Amino acid sequence: MNRTVRVGIIGVGNCARALLEGIGYYTAHPQDPTGLSHPVIGGYTPASVVPAAAWDVDVDKVGRFLWDARTAGQNLDVGIPQDSLKPVGQDVIVQPAPLLDGAGSKYRERITVDEAEDPIDEEADRIRAEIRNAGVDVLVNYLPVGSQAATEWWAQIALDTGCAFVNNIPVFIARNETWRARFREAGLPLIGDDIKSQLGATYVHRILARAFSDRGITLDRTYQLNVGGNMDFYNMLEADRLATKRVSKSSAVTDAYAGDLKPENVHIGPSDYVAFLGDTKKAFIRCEGRGFAGARIDMEMQLTVPDSPNSAGIVIDAVRVAKVALDRNDPSADEWASAWLFKAPPRPVAQDSDTEARRRLDDWLTGA
Ligand SMILES: NC(=O)c1ccc[n+]([C@@H]2O[C@H](COP(=O)([O-])OP(=O)(O)OC[C@H]3O[C@@H](n4cnc5c(N)ncnc54)[C@H](O)[C@@H]3O)[C@@H](O)[C@H]2O)c1
Repeated sequence: MNRTVRVGIIGVGNCARALLEGIGYYTAHPQDPTGLSHPVIGGYTPASVVPAAAWDVDVDKVGRFLWDARTAGQNLDVGIPQDSLKPVGQDVIVQPAPLLDGAGSKYRERITVDEAEDPIDEEADRIRAEIRNAGVDVLVNYLPVGSQAATEWWAQIALDTGCAFVNNIPVFIARNETWRARFREAGLPLIGDDIKSQLGATYVHRILARAFSDRGITLDRTYQLNVGGNMDFYNMLEADRLATKRVSKSSAVTDAYAGDLKPENVHIGPSDYVAFLGDTKKAFIRCEGRGFAGARIDMEMQLTVPDSPNSAGIVIDAVRVAKVALDRNDPSADEWASAWLFKAPPRPVAQDSDTEARRRLDDWLTGA
């Protein structure tokens, strides 16, 4: 069997940078399992993941070799030590993509977009050819929040080219029944939506909410306020692009709590852009509840994490699961993969804990 997972990267931002540098790190240190929940998936290690193609709209990135583009434009230091990386994607040139609704007004303040686009049908023909020539197995969507039309356009490209689609952003594709049916019919894996970072605010908040219901405590009110200083947070200053992000983040937490939690008592979302934080994200979580005989219990916690590597630790699993599903011609585990790895999976994980989703996925991987 060909032991590589050839990925096509849509949007070479900070998350893509972390993924590339992670592949570079584990290629240089093949015996080091630090930071991996699955060192091997179906015979594939992180070093088996090959960045085979990439697309962007930023003139600072398009036309550059992918390894060089990872540090270009508005991309930041994502906290991965640079001295021990084996460069990857050195032979891949970042190609232009159609803009559609990819870059909103905040985003356009900071990047220059190549406006000289071909008609959309010609763009599609060119990109389908690039995908086939590069032998891409899995398309990985890293577009900015709010890219509804662009994400749908790329999902269709995945269907046209027989690629698996990993949707890292809060635009509902895996959760959308029509898209799901289309990928099912084509026999292609569809994993998403919206990465649930490896040890991020969503995962921790789900555990806290779950602890309240497991221990018989009524959760009355909760908030999760998130701040950061990367382009993702800058883009999210544009409130109009945020509707699905709030739904995705809120449902991930309310799904984990077995009781009733009124929508007006849940406030979860990106809260502000703080430039000096760079790629560091801070989350402030508060849970207010009532315990035995109505006695009050309040819980507060603060989390400080490297935002982009925290997502890459998930995507490195998602792309390998997608490739195993392609190898086996069996996309049936993509729902469990989505529940374990993503905030807004197609199967609501109200009763199934994250651990249960992981167990089901691992059973499928081992053929149990
Ligand atoms: N922990 C995390 O970092 C995390 C978690 C969940 C979801 N996400 C989501 O992942 C996505 C990527 O995050 P990021 O931090 O890399 O964002 P980013 O802003 O750094 O990168 C986005 C990239 O997309 C490019 N782009 C914009 N419009 C495009 C188009 N039409 N076609 C092709 N490229 C286009 C931009 O030029 C940029 O290079 C965001 O939607 C983010 O919300 C990230």
